[in-house]
Amino acid sequence: MPEGPEHPAPLLTLAGVRKSFGAVHALADGRLDLRAGEVHALVGENGAGKSTLVKVLAGVHGPDEGVMALDGQPVFFGGPADARAAGIAVIYQEPTLFPDLSVAENIFMGRQPLRSLRRIDTAAMRQRTEELFARLGVRMDPDRPARGLSIADQQLVEIAKALSFDARVLVMDEPTAALSGVEVERLFAVVRSLREAGAAVLFISHRFDEVFALCERVTVMRDGRWVSTDPTAELTVGQVVRRMVGREVSQLYPKQDTTPARSSCRCVT
Ligand SMILES: Nc1ncnc2c1ncn2[C@@H]1O[C@H](COP(=O)(O)OP(=O)(O)OP(=O)(O)O)[C@@H](O)[C@H]1O
Ligand SMILES: [Mg+2]
Repeated sequence: MPEGPEHPAPLLTLAGVRKSFGAVHALADGRLDLRAGEVHALVGENGAGKSTLVKVLAGVHGPDEGVMALDGQPVFFGGPADARAAGIAVIYQEPTLFPDLSVAENIFMGRQPLRSLRRIDTAAMRQRTEELFARLGVRMDPDRPARGLSIADQQLVEIAKALSFDARVLVMDEPTAALSGVEVERLFAVVRSLREAGAAVLFISHRFDEVFALCERVTVMRDGRWVSTDPTAELTVGQVVRRMVGREVSQLYPKQDTTPARSSCRCVT
């Protein structure tokens, strides 16, 4: 396929990725193609294999089979440090910062800028943290302890940390699950600025309104397998749901059965 604005070269690809835990085939055929400058949704029912795919990307799980490539070059991650060095950062739903360390110390943990006599250069660390937050359009005191930060603010610290590593791929596994409406909007503004800066963002969510508001393309997974990848503009919520569940929703929820418990199911909201 010719490259160009319509078909930019993929930044990160996964193909034929398998991962089993004993008898559980968490991933049977994981595939992904992420482009620089896109926010890409990954959707699927509970247990579809989304988080397992993320953990392969993050170097947490070595795949049993399959290939991963960055800029067209095959890569193998022996652990999370390899993935991070390759520019892949994962923001989890509930980050775990060190509560007694400051925001800046959490960001530069283990690689603080040093002055003479190997003393930590706190002024430089503070300034770099301020620069990172400025790039994200976020206000936060670099010197405050992480303890007491909201989950939303902890995620922003993690995103700042990812920027400090020059991450080009940001993976967000259900980042909005514990956020308020205002916090979701702020996160979206940050994600859009990362996209403007050329990052690829993989966004996992069970909320279709978020997927359709934020993402350029949508990959659907079912039972550990890739089902489809399409531009969001060419999809309807109904199509996405049918692909997630693998059959017509009317078959799942027959018309005569409209008890409140059924109709409040996540799949049809
Ligand atoms: N470490 C593990 N050991 C055993 N089974 C696992 C492990 N991790 C995941 N699984 C299983 O693999 C399957 C896929 O799980 P995964 O967490 O990837 O799904 P998911 O799409 O992220 O679901 P959710 O939307 O609920 O987060 C599930 O059946 C899960 O129970
Ligand atoms: Mg998951």
